[in-house]
Amino acid sequence: MSKVIAIANQKGGTGKTTTTVNLGIGLAAQGKKVLLVDADAQGNLTDSLGYQEPDNLPISLATILNKTMMEETYETNDGILHHGEAVDLMPGNIELSAIEVSLVNTMSRETILRTYIDAVKDKYDYVLIDCMPSLGMMTINALAAADSVIIPVQAHYLPAKGMTQLLQTIARVRRQINPKLTIDGVLLTMVDNRTNFAKDISFILRRDYGHKLRVFQTEIPLSIRAAETSAEGKSIYVHDPHGIAAKAYQAFTKEVQDIGEKQRKRQHQTDFSR
Ligand SMILES: Nc1ncnc2c1ncn2[C@@H]1O[C@H](COP(=O)(O)OP(=O)(O)O)[C@@H](O)[C@H]1O
Ligand SMILES: [Mg+2]
Repeated sequence: MSKVIAIANQKGGTGKTTTTVNLGIGLAAQGKKVLLVDADAQGNLTDSLGYQEPDNLPISLATILNKTMMEETYETNDGILHHGEAVDLMPGNIELSAIEVSLVNTMSRETILRTYIDAVKDKYDYVLIDCMPSLGMMTINALAAADSVIIPVQAHYLPAKGMTQLLQTIARVRRQINPKLTIDGVLLTMVDNRTNFAKDISFILRRDYGHKLRVFQTEIPLSIRAAETSAEGKSIYVHDPHGIAAKAYQAFTKEVQDIGEKQRKRQHQTDFSR
């Protein structure tokens, strides 16, 4: 059984793409089959996995979504790239912004991405969708396709207002399109442990949201090494294997895997008792 996770936050620069890369490759290192989906027109995920000209790729997520909208056929491995660190990638690029526009006038406009993900997910243990920094149609599509959401939050800012909007959107998607959608948790990123400010934000987030949401135990530290990885096309585990960011992403991967295992067990018991 596969699990589809959307990595979402409508604010830019909160560590969504970095988290998608290092969680995905972390899960692959644990022997899981992983597909990463770049659902951001900026193509940062594609770029940071070493495909530096995402706009020149012959097939990308936009191509496939277009075919899905037109009810044209495609092979389920069309366009999928294989990264050296054992993850697969469905690349994304600027063409996704045109797709966002055409989605508006399409039937089943919220579930076009889900149709694609449902067609490929059985080959994988985990599918991670790196979302755009907006709550537009592509993000709604990602939430409609997902089993759960992980919300990276940058520790420099008090997330209060943005979080409320995102949580409301998730709740709406759950009511109207995807009742099984859950929130795995909030991940604090770019935490500068030398400052009291970062500690305050961690404290406030856990105090204000901790009773209704999981705030992951692991916090991703601010690390130049982590920032460098996107230019390298590699994960933090290769770029700086013994550094603090690699350790943190490993611990975070373990937390995510534990949630996945628990849900699988529960699902198995439910199926068994039917
Ligand atoms: N732990 C970290 N420490 C320092 N810089 C980071 C860290 N994680 C990500 N970055 C950098 O911060 C910027 C935004 O991160 P990114 O993952 O692209 O966020 P998003 O996808 O939410 O826009 C990028 O330049 C990235 O390299
Ligand atoms: Mg990004």
